Amino acid sequence: MTKVAIWCRHQKDNIIGIGSDIPWNVPSDAQKFVRMATGQNVVVGRKTYETFPERTLPEARIFVLTSDSDYEVSDVQKHLVIGNLKMFKDFDEDLYIAGGAKVYEQFFTTAPKLLPEIVVDCVYRGELNPECKGEIADITSCIGVLNKKYVKISCDYEKDNVTTAIYVRRGEFVDQAVLKKLLSEIEG
Ligand SMILES: NC(=O)c1ccc[n+]([C@@H]2O[C@H](COP(=O)([O-])OP(=O)(O)OC[C@H]3O[C@@H](n4cnc5c(N)ncnc54)[C@H](OP(=O)(O)O)[C@@H]3O)[C@@H](O)[C@H]2O)c1
Repeated sequence: MTKVAIWCRHQKDNIIGIGSDIPWNVPSDAQKFVRMATGQNVVVGRKTYETFPERTLPEARIFVLTSDSDYEVSDVQKHLVIGNLKMFKDFDEDLYIAGGAKVYEQFFTTAPKLLPEIVVDCVYRGELNPECKGEIADITSCIGVLNKKYVKISCDYEKDNVTTAIYVRRGEFVDQAVLKKLLSEIEG
């Protein structure tokens, strides 16, 4: 099983969201995320789940983290409500970690078994949308771990003010098929 974290963060401050919004609008980056998540096992926090159009992703099995065991998902066949991350310590399928900040943070800082083998690090270099208001979600704690425990294995892909690169955990065996798929999806 391979755990892949995918995010798009703002350069320098590592902001990924303000309130319920991503404070930039880069359709090619959003499309790249959907290509990578389509048909996969995807884990998200409840707040991020509620930002997905129609609260879904094409053909994906979505694990929605919430403390509300009565939470109603949009597709009871494919979306599962979970109350903690324990099941992912020994999950035997590939898993795509799609945020938000609270979820990335738990995968990166709480237990070695949760640490992703691969990170798709997208960095937005433009301005933040000043109209977005609310709580700031940033992943600075995860970037600290990325810098210490991972090595960049791809070149930088530049598109629409977003630089994308793939990192793998140092010393970790990484499934080449997963890497190949990610590279082709990044290139579009
Ligand atoms: N730029 C990007 O790549 C990217 C990616 C994803 C999201 N985002 C942005 O990030 C922001 C949301 O991030 P966020 O950190 O505020 O929220 P979040 O991580 O999406 O969701 C947080 C919620 O998840 C639930 N949760 C998390 N860990 C849990 C656990 N261990 N047990 C039970 N429930 C748990 C709780 O739901 P309950 O309150 O229901 O208990 C918690 O309030 C939004 O702005 C979104 O647009 C950006």
